[in-house]
Amino acid sequence: MVRKKTILVTGGAGYIGSHACKALHLAGYMPVTFDNLSQGSIDFVKWGPFFQGDLQNLSDIEAVFKKYQPEAVIHFAASALVIESLKNPSKYYRNNLFSTVNLLDTSLKFGVKKIVFSSTCATYGMPRETPILEETVQDPINPYGKSKLMIEKILSDYEDAYGLQFAALRYFNAAGNDLDGEIGECHDPETHLIPLLVQTALKERESFTIYGDNFPTKDGYAIRDFVHVNDLVRAHLLSLDYLFTHKESLKLNLGSGSGYSVMEVLNLLEAILGTKLNVKVAPKREGEPAILIADTSKAKKLLSWEAKLDLQTILKSAIDWQRNLALS
Ligand SMILES: NC(=O)c1ccc[n+]([C@@H]2O[C@H](COP(=O)([O-])OP(=O)(O)OC[C@H]3O[C@@H](n4cnc5c(N)ncnc54)[C@H](O)[C@@H]3O)[C@@H](O)[C@H]2O)c1
Repeated sequence: MVRKKTILVTGGAGYIGSHACKALHLAGYMPVTFDNLSQGSIDFVKWGPFFQGDLQNLSDIEAVFKKYQPEAVIHFAASALVIESLKNPSKYYRNNLFSTVNLLDTSLKFGVKKIVFSSTCATYGMPRETPILEETVQDPINPYGKSKLMIEKILSDYEDAYGLQFAALRYFNAAGNDLDGEIGECHDPETHLIPLLVQTALKERESFTIYGDNFPTKDGYAIRDFVHVNDLVRAHLLSLDYLFTHKESLKLNLGSGSGYSVMEVLNLLEAILGTKLNVKVAPKREGEPAILIADTSKAKKLLSWEAKLDLQTILKSAIDWQRNLALS
């Protein structure tokens, strides 16, 4: 019998990681979730073994490599709250940077040289152009984005020195949930636009605050690029294939390539639900870019990948998931 390729998935109990484990399982891989459950949930680990451990502990990482002997790593685990990173940068440099160095060193020690890494559009800071190309200057403005850019640089250094091969995938706004309703977005605290809007629409929150109505955009509201989590994880599987069949590393933007303003998202949600949301407007927050839209032509060229699921599908899956959570 052919052994299934084992993939170590750090942060596999989290939002995107759990969707990736489902997709990996369906594609015939064996995902092994490594997670400390600081976020995420054991209930989301359904498609492969679970190893509870912390990337800040070398011995935990060694133990999971020893036990499962993965052939590649997908590295989702991180602290990922921009505002928290401004208040507590130490947490971000420890949990994102140190943890990743621990992970990379252990991977190399066990002869594993292929890694897919969750980077972010936050590495572009206040981007100098739109849509954003991979070559657009990366100049992050908060410790979260800086930690992710530093990791990209570390990956490049490890490639040059040790022959590590990587895919640094720069996500735009991940959104939506598993279309079968088995797993979904569940951050604590929740800071992402779509779950916050849906929770407000379903009366789980009293109101929703929009920060800024005077951005230099068509309607004054910030514009973002929402990409369905299933599209996102499909790109991870294609990246893995790429790493197994090519010698080069990848740095790719992953977005839908389309931008929607906060007000457009709100209006579409109200239309789907036939309800009005209680919305407040507050002054814009420091360091919020007006427009973040990905140019995804490189992912299309190298992986034949593009996002397929539209904003309507994203919102409907977010509503279904939130309704399920309320019932459970
Ligand atoms: N959600 C988005 O829109 C978005 C956008 C850009 C980039 N990203 C990146 O994608 C990745 C996944 O994001 P998410 O939204 O699924 O986050 P998440 O918080 O839902 O998942 C992260 C998981 O990592 C685990 N974890 C954190 N630190 C750990 C440690 N030291 N050891 C072991 N496990 C640890 C958490 O318990 C959690 O289950 C993150 O790296 C994030 O920076 C997310």
